[in-house]
Amino acid sequence: METISRTKIVDAVKNPAIGTKVNVKGWVRTRRGNKHVSFVALNDGSTIHNIQVVIDMTRFSEEELKPITTGSCINVNGLLVESQGKGQTAEIQAEEIEIYGTADPTTYPLQKKGHTLEFLREIAHLRPRTNTFGAVLRIRHAMAFAIHNYFNQKGFFYLHTPIITASDAEGAGQMFQVTTLDLENPPRTEEGKVDYSQDFFGKHSNLTVSGQLEGELGAMALGAIYTFGPTFRAENSNTPRHLAEFWMVEPEVAFNEIKENMDLAEDFLKYLIQYALDNCKDDLEFLCKMWDNELIDRLNFVVANDFVRLPYTEGIEILEKSGHKFEFPVEWGVDLQSEHERYLVENHFKKPVILTDYPKDIKAFYMKLNEDGKTVRAMDVLFPKIGEIIGGSQREENYDKLAARIEEMGIPMKDMWWYLDTRRFGTAPHSGFGLGFERLLLFVTGMANIRDVIPFARTPKNAEF
Ligand code: 4AD
Ligand code: MG
Repeated sequence: METISRTKIVDAVKNPAIGTKVNVKGWVRTRRGNKHVSFVALNDGSTIHNIQVVIDMTRFSEEELKPITTGSCINVNGLLVESQGKGQTAEIQAEEIEIYGTADPTTYPLQKKGHTLEFLREIAHLRPRTNTFGAVLRIRHAMAFAIHNYFNQKGFFYLHTPIITASDAEGAGQMFQVTTLDLENPPRTEEGKVDYSQDFFGKHSNLTVSGQLEGELGAMALGAIYTFGPTFRAENSNTPRHLAEFWMVEPEVAFNEIKENMDLAEDFLKYLIQYALDNCKDDLEFLCKMWDNELIDRLNFVVANDFVRLPYTEGIEILEKSGHKFEFPVEWGVDLQSEHERYLVENHFKKPVILTDYPKDIKAFYMKLNEDGKTVRAMDVLFPKIGEIIGGSQREENYDKLAARIEEMGIPMKDMWWYLDTRRFGTAPHSGFGLGFERLLLFVTGMANIRDVIPFARTPKNAEF
């Protein structure tokens, strides 16, 4: 075969150099035709669009083409010409074809179109080859890039916080333990407890549930930082919104109070959604057509409208007065369930809502106590179809108040000395939040299940590859 440098299909369809000889490589989506001509729809992952390869049967034999079935991978040289077919700009008249890899039609799982998302979860190793997952994964990339772009433009520094840590940032005890001890026969202390001083890190360690506490250390030196990394939670909740391994984005800003924290969260989310609208048009249009025809309208709506800002106490009043029958009853003091959050957003306000000033007893120890002594300066951003997409707060910067909360909540003080030191040395007001990256992707892609917006979902009983 003649050596021609490869053209990605995205370039061949978007900026076709009509009349030139090109090389494309990709996976066959379909092949159809008759004894005079054969049409191959070829995709290389660079775009949702396929390029059509037209094969003149006077130049190729049926025998040569036989292995070119759905899922096979081919290498094609040919002339790029204007397309006759509607909806396409260019197609390729094949001159030379090399078959890289075949895909036996009797066993290739994606032989037919229209598989359910549930079935595709079982073949997570192949589902990136479908239109839907191609679109989702390209959008996922674009959103990750946009996150770095946003913070870089705003002068935030990307801080790499540890994956392995001895601290439980959220104090919820939902951690995966990390150990090199022999679980069958661990070393024991004199009292008969497992002796973690002999473990790899010399103490009980786990995978991080959040980079926040270390993020605060960074903010108290660099002014404004963000983390963006994997976080792990061993909550046994099999819901369409929870993963055991998910990615979190956590900005933390010195001198920001809760109001500025809310402004940042709203501006950030709107930037990301606008970025998707501007840069992922083809993929969004596909997802809109395929799964959720209100998707693009919903994205535009969120960008165009102010988020409602409302104290928890008023939110509870609205829910109590709504007359709506909830599965989980509401009263002041309860932690809101997604059904409550979605009622406020979808039925009552019909807009994203930032709920603030939650009861201290349902929130983490580090949140700043309000003057009422009952509520804390928390803020959750609630989105249509999702519920909570962001959780954040102004942090307690007062050493004594923070130490009292740590004590009150039974968190071992001796493990928190390093965190408390920021309040001992040059403490300052500061705030931050955590955006669940996959929750963002649920919103931006319109997918209904969080397992479908991450390449390889980690959920209870599911971590094979
Ligand atoms: O509300 P959370 O627990 O807040 C924190 O972890 C804080 N330390 C953040 C901060 O202030 N820096 O989690 C933040 C967000 C949630 O709003 C949600 O979007 C997402 O992380 N999240 C999950 N996403 C997927 N699966 C799970 N199991 C999640 N748990 C939380
Ligand atoms: Mg939360």
